[in-house]
Amino acid sequence: MDSSKRAFFSVMCLVFLSCFSVLATNISYDGRAIKINGQRKVFLSGSIHYPRSTQEMWPDLIRKAKEGGLDSIETYVFWNIHEPIRRQYDFTGNKDIIRFLKTIQDAGLYAILRIGPYVCAEWNYGGFPVWLHNMPGVELRTMNSVYQNEMQNFTTLIVDMVKQANLFASQGGPVIIAQIENEYGNIMSSYGDAGKQYVNWCANMAESLGIDVPWIMCQQSDAPPPMINTCNGWYCDNFTPTNPNTPKMWTENWTGWFKNWGGKDPHRTAEDLSFSVARFFQTGGTFQNYYMYHGGTNFGRVAGGPYITTTYDYDAPLDEFGNLNQPKWGHLKELHLLLKSMEKVLTCGDVNTTDFGNSVNVTVYTTSETSSCFIGNANETTDATITFQGTQYTVPAWSVSILPDCKTEVYNTAKVNVQTSIMVKKPNGAEDEPRSLRWEWRPEDVRDTTLHGKGAFAINQLLEQKQATDDASDYLWYMTNVNIDKQDPIFGQDITLRVNTTGHVLHAFVNGKSIGSQWAKIGGSNFVFEQNIKVNSGKNLIVLLSVTVGLKNYGAFYDTAPDGILGPVVLVGKGKMDEEISKDLSSYKWTYKVGLHGEERHLYEVQPHKGWHTKDLPTNRMMTWYKTSFKAPLGTEPVVVDLQGLGKGHAWVNGQSIGRYWPTFLADEDGCSIDSKCDYRGAYSNTKCLTNCGQPSQRYYHVPRSFLHDDENTLVLFEELGGNPSFVNFQTITVGSACGNAEQGKTLELSCQGGRTISQIRFASFGDAQGTCGAFEKGTCEASNALSVIEKACVGKESCTIDVSEATLGSTNCGSGITKRLAVEAIC
Ligand code: GAL
Repeated sequence: MDSSKRAFFSVMCLVFLSCFSVLATNISYDGRAIKINGQRKVFLSGSIHYPRSTQEMWPDLIRKAKEGGLDSIETYVFWNIHEPIRRQYDFTGNKDIIRFLKTIQDAGLYAILRIGPYVCAEWNYGGFPVWLHNMPGVELRTMNSVYQNEMQNFTTLIVDMVKQANLFASQGGPVIIAQIENEYGNIMSSYGDAGKQYVNWCANMAESLGIDVPWIMCQQSDAPPPMINTCNGWYCDNFTPTNPNTPKMWTENWTGWFKNWGGKDPHRTAEDLSFSVARFFQTGGTFQNYYMYHGGTNFGRVAGGPYITTTYDYDAPLDEFGNLNQPKWGHLKELHLLLKSMEKVLTCGDVNTTDFGNSVNVTVYTTSETSSCFIGNANETTDATITFQGTQYTVPAWSVSILPDCKTEVYNTAKVNVQTSIMVKKPNGAEDEPRSLRWEWRPEDVRDTTLHGKGAFAINQLLEQKQATDDASDYLWYMTNVNIDKQDPIFGQDITLRVNTTGHVLHAFVNGKSIGSQWAKIGGSNFVFEQNIKVNSGKNLIVLLSVTVGLKNYGAFYDTAPDGILGPVVLVGKGKMDEEISKDLSSYKWTYKVGLHGEERHLYEVQPHKGWHTKDLPTNRMMTWYKTSFKAPLGTEPVVVDLQGLGKGHAWVNGQSIGRYWPTFLADEDGCSIDSKCDYRGAYSNTKCLTNCGQPSQRYYHVPRSFLHDDENTLVLFEELGGNPSFVNFQTITVGSACGNAEQGKTLELSCQGGRTISQIRFASFGDAQGTCGAFEKGTCEASNALSVIEKACVGKESCTIDVSEATLGSTNCGSGITKRLAVEAIC
């Protein structure tokens, strides 16, 4: 190299290095907090799983997370959608994780990348591809070289992709933390010594990838340094990291819960969720992530199981469709802004906690410049009045008050001052949309094929379903012939077909006719199907269709739990002495076919298919494909399709799956909170505050706007059980009313949150009104002109802001002992 070239090269190197060091962010940690460029930080993060929404939804979801006071977005990486077939990768559409991370970066937020690649997450098979299960000699999540090679291969691939896009903080990107494995500590003891070795191997493997940002292992108290152990749960205030040099981090604060087919709707109150967060920060926590901040939708066959529903709403701060779930979103936002404002004192201050008895304690954080206080009352029933530094404070039961200057209460977790939104569904507003849709239909092709015993391969054995299908479809046909001749002891009898299956759904056919269907109850999968059947003398064809509804995703050795018909499959008759005699068919020659003909022929795609009938629309017909066209609802509000009337199956819009449906699976009648009211006080669990008893566990299915065209759209249904599509209709979701119940001194904002305007104030009272949104009642006292003030401020506007004060709303006739509140219900 000549000297001028060398000089040029050196200058370029310097430019590159200086750019690099300007852009690179150094992430480190100590016993107190995660540090950005040496500065301790408070982190408020939220989980949004990229494949549970669409690329088009990502910017809005992330913007709302930022506006809600979050600084980071957390996501898992879902191996089985990226490597559906070994070494064939897919990062297109809503699987484009790099684009998702860039969207986070563009919004100015940090990212937490939980690679797993075991993720749990109510995701099909916990994120593992089923081909992995079918590799000879494999054992998952333990010291097994077949598994370890594959895990390392995928983890390395993801790390390399993220590096290539310069997305690690060490490269100037948004990713500040990465995770390996997931909650292995919960089940590690079942794996014996190998479990412990596996954790060490995971840690070394992850470390060797050189990402220069910290790695975490959640629920792993023995996480080998430098792995950071973090906490998951409803509450993590009692969590102390084993290693005193790692900060107190909460990777999953469950904002609600997931739902099963046949399950009720879970709810976690804003009061309890904010209580858990405030307690965590009171007790020294500095990193907290909501699982989920946006739950979203299980499109396609990604729902885990068995029996996770298509909706994964989770009662998260952003609902399934991306709307603000109010008051949760807003009540947390206020908390986030406050905690952020206290960042310095929370991460650097001296900490001093005084116990006031009866589960009440005060924590003071002090630096040379300031002091901030938390007054916590973990008593489940008793409000507390305490005197602290000469002032009396009343703290409601199960709440935390935050006094950023140790004098004035700025926030109490049990006092919700933001609006409650009641969401409503509105009928399709598309122009010239006919009242009912016109349907075409065609039968799933079973007559000359599977119901005649025709399959793809045969073996003298009942096969486990994952092994037979590689999870290419939910459906596996088992077919066998049984000869019953005159010599057979069960000849001429009424006999019973008995099938032991590991589920999840079974349809049985004898000699081409359906003889019944049965499915597992929630929480289990094994069951025994029994049905009396008529057999012919000579050859009889037994066809069993086994259907999975999401593969198991959690527990020690969950991956080895069998699916499908493992038998025995027997014909049972009576002997001479009336004793039971049985003919075991389990090792007969069984012929198999994976999937549906309609799946093979892509009937769900928008193509001119021959063979669709326009007349004699059948109802309650099993195994039927239906197709219709429809106009997209006008506007931009989220769209759902109401599938009431249908049984169980799968739905597609313009060729894109909107998931499995099963509206006939009702939630139990019992166990809901009376009038859907629920007491936020006391420890939350997923059996508390349930609604939707006796109703379809899921009736409405999200159709993302980006799946829709302006003109014609196609909806295709595969109906497995039998149903009636005549009631199917499209609706939009919007804020129906916005309510507030804010105390004097606060500012109440009411908003229709989507462009509509407030049309009417149905209720307004500044005084001591009682009740909740939709059912407010006047109390004993109030200001006389609150209603007209609010009407003037709000009607005709998309949103309005009201100072809750006598100056704005007029003086009241309330006595001095009454805490005045403004209760309003505005109609959007
Ligand atoms: C955790 C798990 C998450 C999710 C959650 C329940 O144990 O880490 O992935 O499954 O439970 O929603």
